Amino acid sequence: MARYRDAMVREFTDWQPLEDAAANLLQGKAVDDRQLLPAYRPLVKLMRLIVKVTEKSVWDWASPEVMKVFQEVASGRIYTLFSEVIVEMITSIMQQITIGTLLEVGAGPGKLTADLCQAMATQQLENVPLIISDQSPTVVETATRLRQVYPSFDITDFVWNLREDAPQELQTKLKPPVLVFERFCLAYAGCQAIDTIAPLADIFIIVDDLSLTGQKASYDKIYEKIGSQFLVFEEARKHLEKSFAFIHTCDEETIQAINAPVTSFVMAVKP
Ligand SMILES: C[S@@+](CC[C@H](N)C(=O)[O-])C[C@H]1O[C@@H](n2cnc3c(N)ncnc32)[C@H](O)[C@@H]1O
Repeated sequence: MARYRDAMVREFTDWQPLEDAAANLLQGKAVDDRQLLPAYRPLVKLMRLIVKVTEKSVWDWASPEVMKVFQEVASGRIYTLFSEVIVEMITSIMQQITIGTLLEVGAGPGKLTADLCQAMATQQLENVPLIISDQSPTVVETATRLRQVYPSFDITDFVWNLREDAPQELQTKLKPPVLVFERFCLAYAGCQAIDTIAPLADIFIIVDDLSLTGQKASYDKIYEKIGSQFLVFEEARKHLEKSFAFIHTCDEETIQAINAPVTSFVMAVKP
């Protein structure tokens, strides 16, 4: 977290220019990308595309133009930094205590999962069973690809819509203690997904922007156009408190340092 804070302070400095750019895009004004920090440019490019596309049609993640811009975001600094932090959090926990099962929800294309598998291989942690899940059936292809690259790993996949209870077969496969993690999925599944995840998790790591102010920013309004929900930390906390004794905003120092209106790393642990 200290390294994350240092990277954010060094490379992102302040979130306000990103918010200003989002506000201008919403009002149909031009934004000069050259005036922005390099780390923000792919994010602004994607927001510009969201505003343009959703003006006249429906957002489609599979459209070539969207895929190209999203690829830039996914390989951009913020996504990479987040991956590094999550992987380090998870592997550090696994080095300290015995984890029975790792469970990822909303795994999507599995880029983060692949980074995690790479780190687990390097740190001799490949004997911990990994279950990946997503509401999309493409999770099967994602898992197949990972099993090919990491044949010694125990990787299972399940189609699971987090708005419903976990499939029985998934539940019986879990060996405690179970570490559940997610990145950028709760924004689509909503805070009520915490209620279906919580019964399975001994430790739950949430990597999503949860608002600390309760006030919607312009970039929230842009992402709402493609189905992303505005998540408020206080609401998430109420759901977490039903099951978890310890709820920790891990990035407190970063929030102070860059004046962030959101927490992005939350960890919840059962007694
Ligand atoms: C923005 S992608 C993030 C993918 C991946 N976690 C990452 O960080 O690269 C969001 C993912 O959440 C999944 N998702 C959205 N709503 C869901 C739900 N109700 N249940 C399960 N998965 C869901 C989508 O299918 C998609 O794969």
